Amino acid sequence: MNDKKFYVSTPIYYVNDKPHIGHAYTTILADVLARYHRRLNVPTFFLTGTDEHGQKVQKAAEEHHMTPQEQCDSTVVRFQELWKKLDISNDDFIRTTNPNHQRVVREILQDLYDRDLIYKAEYEGHYCVPCERFFTGKDLEEGELCPECHRPTARIMESNYFFRMSNYQQWLIDYIETHPGFIQPAFRANETLGFLKQPLGDLCISRPKSRLAWGIELPFDADYVCYVWFDALINYISGIGYRTDEAKFRQWWPVSYHLIGKDILTTHTVYWPTMLKAIGLEMPQAIFAHGWWLTGREKMSKSRGNVVNPMAMCDKYGVDAFRYFLLAEMPLGQDASFTEDAFVGRYNSDLANDLGNLLSRVVKMTLRQTDGVIPAPEAYGDDEKELVAEIDQAVAELPRLLDEMKLNRGLETVMQAVRAGNRYLEKTAPWSLAKKGETGKLHTVLYCSAELLRKAGTLLHPVMPHKMTELLTALGLSGEAAANPAIAALKNGENVLSGKKMRDSGALFLRIQPAVPEVPAASAPTEKTSAAPAKASAPARSEAPAPVGVITIDEFFRTQLKTARVLTAERVKGADKLLRLQIEVGEETRQLVAGVAQYYTPEQMVGKTIVIVANLKPAKIRGIESQGMLLAAKHDGALKLVTVDGDMPSGVTIG
Ligand code: ME8
Ligand code: MG
Repeated sequence: MNDKKFYVSTPIYYVNDKPHIGHAYTTILADVLARYHRRLNVPTFFLTGTDEHGQKVQKAAEEHHMTPQEQCDSTVVRFQELWKKLDISNDDFIRTTNPNHQRVVREILQDLYDRDLIYKAEYEGHYCVPCERFFTGKDLEEGELCPECHRPTARIMESNYFFRMSNYQQWLIDYIETHPGFIQPAFRANETLGFLKQPLGDLCISRPKSRLAWGIELPFDADYVCYVWFDALINYISGIGYRTDEAKFRQWWPVSYHLIGKDILTTHTVYWPTMLKAIGLEMPQAIFAHGWWLTGREKMSKSRGNVVNPMAMCDKYGVDAFRYFLLAEMPLGQDASFTEDAFVGRYNSDLANDLGNLLSRVVKMTLRQTDGVIPAPEAYGDDEKELVAEIDQAVAELPRLLDEMKLNRGLETVMQAVRAGNRYLEKTAPWSLAKKGETGKLHTVLYCSAELLRKAGTLLHPVMPHKMTELLTALGLSGEAAANPAIAALKNGENVLSGKKMRDSGALFLRIQPAVPEVPAASAPTEKTSAAPAKASAPARSEAPAPVGVITIDEFFRTQLKTARVLTAERVKGADKLLRLQIEVGEETRQLVAGVAQYYTPEQMVGKTIVIVANLKPAKIRGIESQGMLLAAKHDGALKLVTVDGDMPSGVTIG
């Protein structure tokens, strides 16, 4: 990759229908690459847009009783709104109905025509409207079906204009064979080479207006419009100043990456390179085709009606989590299946349990131990050295994995370091360092875990810009350091955190729980343990029926009792019996709502080691989620918490 600049493009999407998760994916991928390169101080240009001509759009307009232009104008907004919502940082947005683009297409057509690279001829072929492509009879499946999408094609005979694509067949084969990174992943290059084994025909680049009026008129024949793909591919150069702003064009061309889905491999790796060759321009540095998002085993597509709506996913789970999931889940180049279960699973494990939990533990501990001020570290021991090595490996690996387009692996190296951070806290047990008065070591632990979070937050910022700015702000950073953290500066080893004051802004990623009915108060019994297990397991386990009210040891252990430490406590507004607690349960931080406010003040609760039912189905109490229930004895107007006799860490199983 040219390391002096980075120009990345997405396909320009058809405006016949609203965007879906597949469009969102390519665009988020481009956005993340663009953001990473900007953070690495590489001048970056990111182009996306819409493909507004052709039969598909004309047909959609007819169905909606609109003019094609109205169809474009109303649908383009759906894309632009979605990109705004998804935090897409494109530098420009190109629409092929834009007059500048149309002029550039016409100039190119005229030039090729003048040089006899475009000619007129009689044509017979089979046209697939959904793919907007012609096929010859021998290409068709079962005599009439499109070889790409397997839908019926229409037989068409007419005079048309042709681009002499066949001139470049041998040249293209040689080019692909001598430029290994040109088509990525490598197996896609083989697919294109396979396609090029058959004779390459000339490309029909016109449509008679009598059949399709919606397109760019040919400059040399007003009875025809330009074929939509010939028009659309040119966006990649017209969008950066070709024939209008030579300096700008020279700054960005050739493109670093054309990101595409594998559905449009041939147009991008055969039509486009031969067009560029005829125009006299350099080849793209790389054309990268990613796989498909599937619903189950089927491709997700507008025409199949099995699409995931990205707007709805973002509304439900948040934009940053959605961006993270798409990138972490799909190994680039391969297909991936989208399910909401997989989404929730990854969200809870990576974002809530690993990353969010580490932040909340570190912030709360620092607030408690040093009033939130991040201390200066003392000498590093082996644990610290190991931790630093873990995150520095992510700092070093991520740019390399990005260059290799292994984004999911890059994210995984960061998450590994985050998990090491949680283990480090377990091992060094800062809460007991504080008790033992080992202040120097305590300071080192607090600093090192905060520093790990700063680096992880910076590395993940291009993927989750809002959430990572929140994370960096919680660490006491502000301004550019929180809004635009520089990845390039992570290597210099400077201590930017000591002296900064942390802010507790609550959970970064709340665990996603299935919806559950409301219960009155946390200390009140719910539908769980006592009655149900006795009924359920009696017949399976014993010959003689168990006496009523007696349970087996297995039944008892279905209820997981654990120690938990109360980190914070506050009154719930408008509910004088309730306290909202943040509790630490081993590696996890949870929120719990308890009906103890008439017996304990918030101050009395903080620091206590209590006993909770850890596997209780979460419930909403006064709209606040409670993840578990604490145990208390209540008698004669008094309530006493169940605690353990002496010092015990949190998260210990009781039984
Ligand atoms: O083909 N999984 O536009 P289009 C992953 N206008 N990505 C998907 C996807 C899926 N299920 N479905 C769509 C066109 N995509 C032309 C492009 S470019 C000069 C002209 C993404 O609206 C993927 O990037 O059909 C795919 O290539 C693109 O959307 C097709 O979008
Ligand atoms: Mg398509």
